[in-house]
Amino acid sequence: MTVKDLVRSLTGITTTGTPHLGNYVGAIRPAVRASREPGLENFYFLADFHALIKCDEPERIQRSTLEIAASWLAAGLDPEKVTFYRQSDIPEIPELTWLLTCVTGKGILNRAHAYKAALDKNEAAGQDADFDVTAGLFMYPVLMAADILMFKAHRVPVGRDQVQHIEMARDIAQRFNHLYGELLVLPDAVIDENVALLPGLDGRKMSKSYDNTIPLFGPREQLRKQIMGIVTDSRAPGEPKETAGSSLFSIFRAFASDEETKAFAQAFADGIGWADAKQQLFERIEREIGPMRERYQHLIDNPAEVQAILLAGAEKARAIAAPFLRDLRSAVGLRALGAQSTPGKDKSQPKGSLPQFKQYREKDGRFYFKFTEANGEVLLQSVGFESPREAGQAVKRLQTEGSAALADLNLLLEPLTNVKLELVTDALKRLLDETGA
Ligand code: TRP
Repeated sequence: MTVKDLVRSLTGITTTGTPHLGNYVGAIRPAVRASREPGLENFYFLADFHALIKCDEPERIQRSTLEIAASWLAAGLDPEKVTFYRQSDIPEIPELTWLLTCVTGKGILNRAHAYKAALDKNEAAGQDADFDVTAGLFMYPVLMAADILMFKAHRVPVGRDQVQHIEMARDIAQRFNHLYGELLVLPDAVIDENVALLPGLDGRKMSKSYDNTIPLFGPREQLRKQIMGIVTDSRAPGEPKETAGSSLFSIFRAFASDEETKAFAQAFADGIGWADAKQQLFERIEREIGPMRERYQHLIDNPAEVQAILLAGAEKARAIAAPFLRDLRSAVGLRALGAQSTPGKDKSQPKGSLPQFKQYREKDGRFYFKFTEANGEVLLQSVGFESPREAGQAVKRLQTEGSAALADLNLLLEPLTNVKLELVTDALKRLLDETGA
């Protein structure tokens, strides 16, 4: 299978809270499973720019980012297999947000559910319509579109409440493509019908906003206590219990196999006492979560480890985002002043926009070369060579073999980061295309 055949899936998690069992069952577990499927290329990121829209407590943003990252890793997300990063580590995203902002109709944003809900709430309270509404809330869908379009995601697994945002991302992408050429990929929302909706302690959907959640990685004893506190009816031990409408039963089912669930239903029919049923539920959850708790705690205690994982993820992500953003900038006209074309509309690159090699001699008497982008940005800088001929030979190899020559030419002053490597590869390729070598 080639990279082209891969379906790219991407989703973000807003960093404002502590993960609970509902997040685990509804998002983390299905994502970790999906990340092991062949044929899917997965991007998961911590949407901390989005978090700023809802939360102005710096400590909470920081803590939540750590907790969510640690939870996903502890639950088995393999950062080698997926691209796992923090949104705010990708400066290309806010930049793309601006390009998209300029093609987004204000009317579309007026119709966004979350923004409208805020206005309706103000109206109901007799407030000014815009009371406490930030421009960030208004722009939320554009930032989200940038998250998705930056990486040409085909599929975006989300909850039902996010579907409108994906539709807006499609609209925005279409408008951009219409104006500037077919550059952006139109994403599809993916809603998993099989994912369990977990009831919370009080029987309503488990959600931060109802304050009825069970933290995913609280201490074992706390988990037990909270499960013992789940609301049940008042039937005594020995009396048959209803499974329908029982939160206890629904939560059990979200963790258990079909067989275990059947046996649990039978126990209900046979009149299991609520205390016993709760103990069984606790043990079943603990069997799955317990082994992950240690890894979670380790990561929480070693934030630098999590930071390093996220930075490595950001580097992978930027290796895709940086060259793509350059194409997008060029398409809208933010390009070298001598250049004339729009990559999406016209593949040929005008001469003025080609990257170049420059050879020179330094005070140390040695011979060097630089490889620069058309706009002057230095992409590569060589080590010093004894003679101009040697430097010239290295240049020649790069010109004719492209980035393939980089691997065995040990000629760089600074090691290449992935981001740079992507830029260099892209620039060499354009040069090769142009010279027909
Ligand atoms: N808005 C999403 C939520 O609240 C989080 C999010 C931000 C997201 N950017 C995204 C989800 C991009 C999918 C794709 O759940």
